[in-house]
Amino acid sequence: MYPDMKKPWAGRFKEETARCVEEFTESVSFDWRLWPYDIEGSVAHARMLARQGIISRDEADRIITALQEIASEIESGKFRFRRDLEDIHMNIEAALISKIGPVGGKLHTARSRNDQIALDLRLYLRAEVRGIVRMIKGLQRVFLRLAQRHAGTIMPGYTHLQRAQPVTLGHHLLAYVEMLQRDKERLLDALDRINTMPLGACALAGTTLPIDRAYTARLLKFKRVAVNSMDAVSDRDFAVEFLSIAAIIMLHVSRIAEELVLWSTEEFSFVELPDAFTTGSSIMPQKKNPDVAELIRGKVGRVYGALVALLTTMKALPLTYNRDMQEDKQPVFDAVDTLKSVIGILAEMLPKVRFNKKRMTETAAAGYSLATDLAEYLVGKGLPFRDAHEVTGRVVGYAIERNAELHDLTLDELQAFSPLIGPDVFDVLTIEKAVERRNSMGGTSPDEVRRQVDRLRKAL
Ligand code: ARG
Repeated sequence: MYPDMKKPWAGRFKEETARCVEEFTESVSFDWRLWPYDIEGSVAHARMLARQGIISRDEADRIITALQEIASEIESGKFRFRRDLEDIHMNIEAALISKIGPVGGKLHTARSRNDQIALDLRLYLRAEVRGIVRMIKGLQRVFLRLAQRHAGTIMPGYTHLQRAQPVTLGHHLLAYVEMLQRDKERLLDALDRINTMPLGACALAGTTLPIDRAYTARLLKFKRVAVNSMDAVSDRDFAVEFLSIAAIIMLHVSRIAEELVLWSTEEFSFVELPDAFTTGSSIMPQKKNPDVAELIRGKVGRVYGALVALLTTMKALPLTYNRDMQEDKQPVFDAVDTLKSVIGILAEMLPKVRFNKKRMTETAAAGYSLATDLAEYLVGKGLPFRDAHEVTGRVVGYAIERNAELHDLTLDELQAFSPLIGPDVFDVLTIEKAVERRNSMGGTSPDEVRRQVDRLRKAL
């Protein structure tokens, strides 16, 4: 298709580009996926040119019709992308010219690939970020439903991965809803800056032609224009910001992934992962491996890598556009794809995870996790917390020596440590009471968890 197309910039060259150079410098093998945005941007640009009298209405119409034809050719897979035409911009422009002749050559008036690629990437990220925000909301809903169901399920809460205090599973899960809430806020904040229109910066300095940048921005529904033309073509902050947020989101999902890996071990046995989301071993018949959770954890590396790659590419680049910047796209695309696949599969898998409530509750009851409750009981009897801590520590030491839990000790044994301890202490020394009584704002009690579920539901 379009065999007569020459490189749009071929004019000043005597020699053909070396084949190896074409292969080394091309970007169409990956930037082809920007085509919907490239065409959308070109349509708006043509409209603006006609409105300003830079090209005629009729010329604009012919350009737009041809661009739309090219769009449907690409969509139906009929369009053949050519590497010797470097990138998505020149592939589409060359096809346009071969369709409608020299008029097609008017589209690139008052435009350069430098502002064009900045535009395409911003349009792409704007759409993807909106989609990712929606996916995060979906994942939050999954967590919320589980949290509601498990508002009263007791499990051990950990610090240092040592059993610390009993908590409710609902409370644990709500922690992830909060993380995702912040991630969403960060994305929306970045979206505000992504939503800035660079077109009209041209190569770097603007143009002598009477363009109307604000009009193009309105057509493309941008919030504002990137005013300084040199900044507009050399800025990739918006992509770096996106990648840094993507890195934080991956960090967050890696933590639930890690917990699922841990919890599904024989040693924890807190969860059973759905068969459909695990794999077996080719040699050990008993194994059921948490591969999905592991891969979610593992894919964090490539997103961090994408962030570091783009930061490094951009570092110390002199103004304005440099070809180095072509290296921005693959990290961004890969981070977008990875993020979407990870959020998607986590949202699929989580509702099918079976929580072993009995095992979680039993584990929460063991291991002196009610020591803080005993200390706070003593505080209630008037003892300063530091002293209460000291007394309780001695009680725990005593219980450990006898291989007993706190609630196994008799009142006499307990009173030997402090006369303030009365028979009502046994009301405190149950894990059910321990979670119920942690009813402070944002605490772990089932009632508070239900309140937080309601609050977060409304926030969604
Ligand atoms: N393919 C290029 C990129 O991705 C488009 C801009 C090219 N500009 C240039 N002056 N060669 O960055």
